[in-house]
Amino acid sequence: MTGRLDGKVALVTGAGSGIGRAIADRFVAEGARVVYADRNTDAATTAAGAAGALAVPLTMDIASEPSVADGFASLADDGLVPDVVVANAGVQLFGQDAAVADVSLEAWERTLAVNLTGTFLTLKHAVRAMRPRGGGSIVCTGSPTGLNGEGSTFAAYSSTKGGIHALVRSTAMAYAPDGIRVNTVVPGYTETGLVSTIATDPAARAAIVARTPLGRAGTPDDVTGIMVYLASDESSFATGAEFRVDGGMTSL
Ligand SMILES: NC(=O)c1ccc[n+]([C@@H]2O[C@H](COP(=O)([O-])OP(=O)(O)OC[C@H]3O[C@@H](n4cnc5c(N)ncnc54)[C@H](O)[C@@H]3O)[C@@H](O)[C@H]2O)c1
Repeated sequence: MTGRLDGKVALVTGAGSGIGRAIADRFVAEGARVVYADRNTDAATTAAGAAGALAVPLTMDIASEPSVADGFASLADDGLVPDVVVANAGVQLFGQDAAVADVSLEAWERTLAVNLTGTFLTLKHAVRAMRPRGGGSIVCTGSPTGLNGEGSTFAAYSSTKGGIHALVRSTAMAYAPDGIRVNTVVPGYTETGLVSTIATDPAARAAIVARTPLGRAGTPDDVTGIMVYLASDESSFATGAEFRVDGGMTSL
């Protein structure tokens, strides 16, 4: 690795597993001090412990404002004001989320509470931390389901992702004068614990790979290169944008 993030402090939500862990590990490899934030304390501790001295675990539930506010405050107390925040944590309720007529209010509200409200809370407190220090870079994890018809059987999940794309544009425009850049990365079908229901069903997996022009499933590492670019000063003129790393899925 090349030290592209030397001297930076980054916070990644959902860093206990999957895409978030791969991003956090890559940031460490690029020289950043990285806060592995996750509501799952064991997962955050294990992931940060394996990543070495530049990694710091943090228990944070993005769906709870006190948890998010306390998390940023404790980092400030430790002198860790983030240059980079990746708002990545999310859930997808397989078996409960469905086409709209079949979604319970409870499943809808749980999905919104984590994915959309949680991203809102992460951005709110990230902006408050970054403004006094003159800027920073925020990156959210979007989804093809928020951009096209890919989420036809996930009304709640795709609504949260569409909301995230709008929230990113709104936040990017509001805080550009403060030097805060806000962008979205859109992974395609990426094999993590989140999508194990698809990965373990050969027909469902074949169908989604068939909708991916590059002809394979993504891996968490596929997403890390664009994240390093957006976290670094190399992307200093990029804000309010979507960067698709989806094997071509959204161009079909
Ligand atoms: N896997 C895919 O195919 C795919 C595709 C597009 C977008 N995404 C998005 O990528 C992001 C990461 O997903 P993943 O596939 O790595 O899933 P994952 O389940 O492997 O990891 C998600 C992590 O988020 C944490 N988390 C969940 N709720 C939380 C909360 N309230 N507060 C803090 N942490 C919480 C979990 O503990 C877990 O460690 C999500 O936003 C997801 O919607 C995933």
